Amino acid sequence: MSCSISLLPRVVAGATSRINMHLFRAPQTVSIRSRPQLGTLTPLVRGNDKATFLRHTSARCLATTQTMEADSTTGVAAEVESLRAQIAQLETTLKLKEKQLDTVYPYSRSYNKTSVVTILGSEDGGKKLIGQTLRVGGWVKTGREAGAGAFCFLEVNDGSMFDSLQVMVPKEVAEEVGGLRALTATGTSVLVEGRLEATPEGTKQAVELKATKVLHVGPCDAATYPIAKKKTSYEFLREKMHLRPRANTIGAVARIRNALAFATHKFFQENGFLYVHTPIITASDCEGAGEMFQVTTLIGKMKEYTDVPSVSPQQLEALKGELAAQGDAVKAAKAAAAANKEDKELAAASKAAVDKLLKLKEEFAKAEESSRIVGGIKRLPDGTPDYKEDFFSKPAYLTVSGQLQGEFYASALSNIYTFGPTFRAEHSFTARHLAEFWMIEPEMAFCDLKDDMQCAEDYVRYCCKHLLDNCAADLEFINKMVDNTALARLQQVASTPFKRVSYTEAIELLQDVVARGVKQFEFKVEWGIDLQTEHERYLTEEIFKQPVIVYNYPKDIKAFYMKLNEDGKTVAAMDVLVPKVGELIGGSQREDRLDVLEERIRDGGMDLAAYEGYLDLRRYGTVPHSGFGLGFERLVLFATGLDNIREVIPFPRWPGNAAY
Ligand code: 4AD
Ligand code: MG
Repeated sequence: MSCSISLLPRVVAGATSRINMHLFRAPQTVSIRSRPQLGTLTPLVRGNDKATFLRHTSARCLATTQTMEADSTTGVAAEVESLRAQIAQLETTLKLKEKQLDTVYPYSRSYNKTSVVTILGSEDGGKKLIGQTLRVGGWVKTGREAGAGAFCFLEVNDGSMFDSLQVMVPKEVAEEVGGLRALTATGTSVLVEGRLEATPEGTKQAVELKATKVLHVGPCDAATYPIAKKKTSYEFLREKMHLRPRANTIGAVARIRNALAFATHKFFQENGFLYVHTPIITASDCEGAGEMFQVTTLIGKMKEYTDVPSVSPQQLEALKGELAAQGDAVKAAKAAAAANKEDKELAAASKAAVDKLLKLKEEFAKAEESSRIVGGIKRLPDGTPDYKEDFFSKPAYLTVSGQLQGEFYASALSNIYTFGPTFRAEHSFTARHLAEFWMIEPEMAFCDLKDDMQCAEDYVRYCCKHLLDNCAADLEFINKMVDNTALARLQQVASTPFKRVSYTEAIELLQDVVARGVKQFEFKVEWGIDLQTEHERYLTEEIFKQPVIVYNYPKDIKAFYMKLNEDGKTVAAMDVLVPKVGELIGGSQREDRLDVLEERIRDGGMDLAAYEGYLDLRRYGTVPHSGFGLGFERLVLFATGLDNIREVIPFPRWPGNAAY
């Protein structure tokens, strides 16, 4: 770039003041007559001619402008960051103020109900609402009689936040609904109207509701209520999936999960990604691993075929023989009738033979149709199901990943993401696998592995920060009751850049700890192995003690679509490994060269025809592109420190289990 003062006007307007400052400071030999206006600078030359001055100034300007550009970028970025923080703060304050204007939950107007978070979640813990008459509804967490039976205290939780609101119900108020005992059992639902009052100094909560009316009671029999006990195991709760959301931990997880889903959309939307809904039912196997659930109506059709008489191949052969014999009989009868045209009996016999043949043909066609139905399913001659009979007229499955279709959209709209359920029929009972899980999959055009890794890191760190900023009470509970490292982990991840290490380096690091006798693994560590959870967790938890991205994996252990590196041995793949979980993200740069991709599909023993659309992307306007998939439940697992993935999805599915 050649520099002259005339270039200065191109510098962004926001940097004007900084530019002026630089001009004042930079050329020692020059004095500026007056504070210059950009583009109309009139420097006064002392002891130098104008040409020398301009040359001199040009050189200085080049350096200055470059510094200014850098300065202005960082300066503007800082300003943007600060403005964002201010906006966020204002939005929070606005929401709080709005809540104070109208305390009724927008869709409980008929009941005039306020949510607990409106009261306890406000900045002052509800003090501003003291004196107001409010209605609160929810489920009793704990209830106890006090004051020698003069009143009771109820901890009412409505799920809007972790904390429950204390409600004091005087005996005379409870009388109308059957007395204090009708209210205190854990699990009882109540809608109570009362006056919000200050609690005595030193009480945990600043306010409590003093009931004046009980408007609704949904009794709960303490003797049979399955989760009445304070401590119930996670395994037991899984057997009571319908009541499980009432448990403290599961409620906190639900709110954390919600916040992470919100953060996900926020992150991608703020960064210019388009949300694309990729299909749940698909005809292609993205991962090429064949662990797919089949979607078919053929099984349902089996009933239709129960009345169809079964025909064995032998019976069909016999019918075929009968048909051939009748064909011969027809020929003979026709010949006899033709030889003696006057003979009416011969003519009638010929007609009867033809009629019989036609009837036999019809019977044979029916029998042949029936013989193709084996075990209630119509088959092709080779015995495989005839998919023309199936709903989609071809085999269809539940998706294992939305990536392929995501690539279609990224190849037209640049940056997209999907966020939806995915399904894997792997017979896995581990604490990190589900048969149905949710995946977030961004796909970016003109993006290489380096940018892909950066996007993954930025996204995960954004989610951690969002949780810390928005789920304090739930995280506090989790940190106290579930995993006392959860908060520190989130804080560390939110504030520390991820480490990056190549697969080859990772193997060397693991081999080193084995060689030094520091650690023994169940699975032997050698170049070419698929890293097991024990290896992944050791890398992230013990060696790096923070999230680490492993990249450039051997091609033989990774999917066909990953871009082959120049070494011919590795692919541009990456996995993000995090403490507590191991693999959180799997992604890659995609193979964008048609010939290489075709070879990879063929090498994998897959059918090229099934990937025609995918290959077309490489035929028509191929671009370097990359993406990744983050297992949403693993993110929740990481955030909460829970041991089993079955606790972090509302309705877990694993082999042998699909309650509700
Ligand atoms: O590594 P995976 O198999 O990658 C893909 O499916 C790619 N198509 C993603 C892409 O590049 N668009 O799965 C991605 C993530 C894993 O890192 C893991 O977090 C999660 O999905 N995952 C599972 N989570 C729960 N249960 C299972 N059975 C899972 N299998 C994978
Ligand atoms: Mg993976």
